[in-house]
Amino acid sequence: MNPDAAGFGLYVHWPFCLSKCPYCDFNSHVHDSINVEDWKNGYLAALKWFAAQTGRREISSVFFGGGTPSLMPPALVADILDTAGQLWSMAADVEITLEANPTSAEAGKFRDFAAAGVNRLSLGIQALNDADLGALGRQHTAREAIKAWRMAHAIFPRASFDLIYARPGQTRKAWEKELRQALSLGARHISAYQLTMEPETPFHKRYEAGKLHLPDEETAIAMYEQTRAIMAGAGLELYEISNFSVPGAQCRHNLLYWRYGEYAGIGPGAHSRLIGQSGQRRAISAIRAPARWLARAQQGGIEEDVPLSPHEAAREYLLMSLRMTEGLDLTRHAALGGAPVNEDACADLIAQGLLHRPGSSRIAATNAGRLVLDHVITQLA
Ligand SMILES: C[S@@+](CC[C@H](N)C(=O)[O-])C[C@H]1O[C@@H](n2cnc3c(N)ncnc32)[C@H](O)[C@@H]1O
Ligand code: SF4
Repeated sequence: MNPDAAGFGLYVHWPFCLSKCPYCDFNSHVHDSINVEDWKNGYLAALKWFAAQTGRREISSVFFGGGTPSLMPPALVADILDTAGQLWSMAADVEITLEANPTSAEAGKFRDFAAAGVNRLSLGIQALNDADLGALGRQHTAREAIKAWRMAHAIFPRASFDLIYARPGQTRKAWEKELRQALSLGARHISAYQLTMEPETPFHKRYEAGKLHLPDEETAIAMYEQTRAIMAGAGLELYEISNFSVPGAQCRHNLLYWRYGEYAGIGPGAHSRLIGQSGQRRAISAIRAPARWLARAQQGGIEEDVPLSPHEAAREYLLMSLRMTEGLDLTRHAALGGAPVNEDACADLIAQGLLHRPGSSRIAATNAGRLVLDHVITQLA
């Protein structure tokens, strides 16, 4: 693959939620009142700052992430997309994803999001029983979630059904039932995230105090293997550690990250990887605190803008690409400026069944390798 053929994407971060889930450490905040006009001005100013850095490019995908972007007024989503289309240009088949929570108020806005240009919805269902949804601190019932899913499925050409597994007290049998229910509802893309204990979250504190009990590691691994088998049986192949889809329904925006494409990230805490005039990559990160970001939006809301050496860029590509089933393209890795991947380490990992060669110029983690991906990466890098 040509080093720059992975596409150009736009990420927009909406940092607000109705309430804070006790397991989440994303840059998300609960605010009573949000001045939409100020935020609109902030996003449009930041878009202009980024367009001045990149020049005219064709956008292959846009992703509204959060926080809870389904709380955004659809007119704001439309304004951001219109401005982005004027500053850059949108590919004819551009993918535009919005992350949504399945409360009834948000589901009522789905048609307006579609009218604004969104053509893919990633719906955070997380669990399909009310006891677990309550324990996760979610603001919706399973019934509401299913209703919202049916609407999303009917309105958007592509939709993702997002679930969390290895939850407190969850059994393999219960997880299998949920997965089969998701499939029976017509899901063609499922993101299944293993619940992780993020430092400083209320869940982490309860876990450390021995008050929250998770399935043990063996059970969590068995749940992962079970997920892969059930999905494959229904035609949804794993294409990244936590993502499954039928052929052609993969999230193109996430593939762009993992294939190490170029992207501009707008909004509090967003990250960007842009290729500068000299061909060198720049790692840009935005100010995380919403009010501080907004105050600096005219200057892109930037906290840091660091050039990456070819070696650093190639290492980032290695880290990202090995998450995918398709793995790493050795030619691209070399073109980015990476030192040749250690052949002895490769041979050892292949002999151990952790790595394989899906093509003459590719290496990829096996199912066993994905379970110990950090170890595989340490050996190769
Ligand atoms: C940050 S959320 C944003 C979208 C939306 N607000 C939602 O909750 O679905 C994106 C995804 O990350 C997942 N997530 C957040 N914290 C997690 C954790 N500690 N373990 C596993 N998944 C997590 C969410 O459940 C969701 O599917
Ligand atoms: S709704 Fe999503 S982003 Fe907001 S706190 Fe919950 S998991 Fe995090």
